[in-house]
Formats: sequence, C-alpha cells, structure tokens
Amino acid sequence: MTLYMIGIGLNNEKDITVKGLELVRKADIIYLENYTSKLSTSIKNLEKVYKKSVILANRDLVEKNADEILDKAKNKKVAFLIIGDVFSATTHTDLMLRAKEKKIKVEIINNASILTAVGITGLELYKFGKTTSIPYFEESFKAETPYNVIKDNQKLGLHTLVLLDIKADENRFMTINEALTQLLEIEKKRKEKVFTEQTKVIGCARLGANSKIKYGSAKELLKEDFGKPLHCLIIPGKLHFIEEEALQQYK
Ligand SMILES: C[S@@+](CC[C@H](N)C(=O)[O-])C[C@H]1O[C@@H](n2cnc3c(N)ncnc32)[C@H](O)[C@@H]1O
Repeated sequence: MTLYMIGIGLNNEKDITVKGLELVRKADIIYLENYTSKLSTSIKNLEKVYKKSVILANRDLVEKNADEILDKAKNKKVAFLIIGDVFSATTHTDLMLRAKEKKIKVEIINNASILTAVGITGLELYKFGKTTSIPYFEESFKAETPYNVIKDNQKLGLHTLVLLDIKADENRFMTINEALTQLLEIEKKRKEKVFTEQTKVIGCARLGANSKIKYGSAKELLKEDFGKPLHCLIIPGKLHFIEEEALQQYK
C-alpha cells in the first residue's frame, strides 16, 4: 500500500507539519527512527498529539530487518518518522529504494533539518563545504576524517558543519567540549595547524528549541557548558563582513 516517510522536525511534538500530521493520523502503523537524532520530548507526548501509538525503530530494524517494516507497508499505511528532515544527514534512501522495488507507494513529507537550521548563526548556507561527523574515539581507532574534511574546506575558504556522535542505545550524545578535545588531540599528533586552540568555532546546542550558540576560539568554547543534547560545531571559513557582523551576537 503506502510508506509515508515523514520528517518531524528538530525539537518536539509541535514541529510536525500539518501535512505530516494528517498522514500520521491516517496511518495504521507508525515507526519512529530515533538512532540518528534526538527529540527534546517524550514518545508519550508524540502519541498524545498523533492520537496513535508509536513504535521505536532502532538501527538494526531499519538497516538489517527493513523487510519487517516493508512487509507491513504492502497492505497497510505505514508512517516512518524521521527526526529533522527525511534525507538530511541520514541514510534512509535505502529504505525508500527497497520500498519502491517492492512496488510500495512512497510519499515523502519534508521538514526542517540541522543542515539548514545552522543558518541562524548568520553563516551563508551556500558557503558550507562537505559536512563531517565526529565519532567517539576508541582505544584502537581515532578517526581523523573530520580533521581532513576541515582542512579541505579551509583550503577553499568554506565553512564546515561538524555533526557529533550519538550512541542512542547507551544514551550518550557527544558534547561540543568532547568534540573540541578530540579535534585538538588530532592536531597534537598531526601538527598541521588545521585545528588549534586559537581556531575560531561556533558551538550550537539544541537548535530549534531553547538553543545556545557561542562563537569564540576553541580554547574559549572549551570553558562553556552547552547543556543538554544535541550539540554540533561549525568551523567558519572565509567570512563575509555580514557573516562577521552576525556572529558578533554570539560572542
Ligand atoms: C545525523 S544528524 C540528524 C539529521 C536529521 N535527520 C536532520 O535532518 O536534522 C544528527 C546530528 O546532527 C546534530 N544535530 C541534530 N539536531 C540538532 C539540533 N537541534 N541542535 C544541534 N545539533 C543538532 C547533532 O550533532 C546530531 O548528532
């Protein structure tokens, strides 16, 4: 029948669009993907507004056992909810393609994403280079990819949006402080002056809700407490004077 893939926005139960809400209320089964992002509200509050019960879909279900969702969508209306926007910084293309392969009708309902919400900083969205994400360091592996992406974007004068690791099953969400510490540790090893204590950064916490945004050097931001998740980081590239002016409000 139909798979509705619905972005529910960045913050709470009120961020779903009218179109999205109408479809959720029509749906027979509702899944919420909650391993690539986090809402600042409870499932109970979602259920109250949706007037339906919500099933949590973890990574295993979506990536390894997607047939469980798709088989239901063959003869029922299934809503698959995504925090933020449907295809922004997440990997739901596979689910859509597999649904189409099985001749299931797919409807997409878009919403706001972290990829555009960062516009609140005053940085020009057209001037962002490749987005990167920082995984938690492990004893055996300390990923340097984010450092390399920042370096490549810097060469072109582009801004870098750095998304931070989420370990939803452990209720662990990387903070801006943890991300800065990891980047400085890579700098200590590489010594390429890509990310030093003097590097200017913008820390963004809980965009779309009671957000906190701070602009300053990595050293200054390390002293800030950004509070509850989610957090992300921006390393600005070459700044236009309007961007510079906008950033002053976050100093
Ligand atoms: C994989 S992205 C999820 C993208 C989501 N589908 C969207 O469209 O926004 C998740 C990461 O983005 C960042 N993020 C998402 N929402 C955020 C928010 N409201 N404020 C700050 N950072 C956020 C965090 O670093 C988080 O770990």
